[in-house]
Amino acid sequence: MVNYLVYVSQARKGLGTADLEAILSKSRSYNPLHGISGMLLFADGRDGRRGSFMQLLEGDRDVVENLRATIFADPRHHSKIVIEQGEKPGRDFADWSMAFQNATSESLAGYPAFADLGSEHFYVRCQAGEAHRSLEFLKDFWAAEPRENVL
Ligand SMILES: Cc1cc2nc3c(=O)[nH]c(=O)nc-3n(C[C@H](O)[C@H](O)[C@H](O)COP(=O)(O)O)c2cc1C
Repeated sequence: MVNYLVYVSQARKGLGTADLEAILSKSRSYNPLHGISGMLLFADGRDGRRGSFMQLLEGDRDVVENLRATIFADPRHHSKIVIEQGEKPGRDFADWSMAFQNATSESLAGYPAFADLGSEHFYVRCQAGEAHRSLEFLKDFWAAEPRENVL
């Protein structure tokens, strides 16, 4: 069994490609040394809004919890909400210290439960514990979307 956690957050205003590169570079050096794998999704902000993150962390429970605390203290994002956590039989991103996908509103349109990622409405649903099946969503999104946008 492996422990996992999925959270969503809102990116700091003005967060750009250089920030994403720095986050991924750090993740790809730290995570393999600590047995962490996972996926980071970045949804572009629409209509002048800031972008949103959704991230899956997989690994030993204590390590996942420590990394979650470190990430949650990072000023590059705010309004973090854990939407799913628990145990699963194995890793879904075993080959990835941190897989990355950019999600556009077009690409999210095919996933009705997550199409409004980043909106007020989505955050209200997350706070109410109504964002289900986020792990399935991340796996489906990763499997279906072309990888040209991988940073
Ligand atoms: C959305 C987001 C996801 C992150 N994911 C990871 C991660 O998977 N692994 C990691 O080591 N750091 C990750 N970070 C960076 C950490 O929050 C933190 O900045 C870093 O580990 C601190 O190390 P530093 O002070 O040496 O940069 C992430 C940051 C953000 C904003």
